[in-house]
Amino acid sequence: MKKILAVVGSPRKNGNTHILVRKIAEGAKAKGAAVEELLLGELSIKECDGCHRCWKTESCTKKDDMCGIYPKIAESDAIIFGTPVYWYGPTGLMKLFIDRFVYFNSPGNRGKIKGKSAVIAVPFEEENPKAAHLVVELFQKSFEYLEMKLVGKIIAPGVSEKGDILQKPELLARAYKLGQALADR
Ligand SMILES: Cc1cc2nc3c(=O)[nH]c(=O)nc-3n(C[C@H](O)[C@H](O)[C@H](O)COP(=O)(O)O)c2cc1C
Repeated sequence: MKKILAVVGSPRKNGNTHILVRKIAEGAKAKGAAVEELLLGELSIKECDGCHRCWKTESCTKKDDMCGIYPKIAESDAIIFGTPVYWYGPTGLMKLFIDRFVYFNSPGNRGKIKGKSAVIAVPFEEENPKAAHLVVELFQKSFEYLEMKLVGKIIAPGVSEKGDILQKPELLARAYKLGQALADR
């Protein structure tokens, strides 16, 4: 059975990102995957301060919720990263989360992330898909660096208010299918 972590990087619970990530998760569950949801807004994840202790000891000096998430990531087959566009980047919550992936860049921990599949889900207000360009690039480059595989993305323009994404059934259908494909890999 595939293990998938579904990470919601919007502080807005039941917002567009949450709905989109949940739809991907639903598709994966329908194909037998076990999915665990992480709402970053409900967790305490501090900034990476670049001490590089993880390079020497394979553990992180910060004592926060990320300590419990590292083993979950290591045990997972795939990760769903959901973030809305905030000023052409990801949310601060998502950036703090990704920064802590320095842990996986250390020689002793690299094997815990290498080869994992990832998908991204990125809703935003503007109609021009280019508004998500930097977010997509950030994930693409970071996954490449960490030797992860970006296997799909849902870019969702034109959604502003909480729940607007529900008016985009074609995007939700694509999200569901992506979840199914992720579980089938
Ligand atoms: C602080 C902040 C910055 C934002 N910056 C952008 C932006 O640069 N471009 C854009 O298209 N939408 C921007 N938005 C709109 C959100 O991306 C949009 O409302 C999205 O649907 C929110 O997703 P959520 O419901 O999961 O929180 C911003 C919203 C906030 C609160």
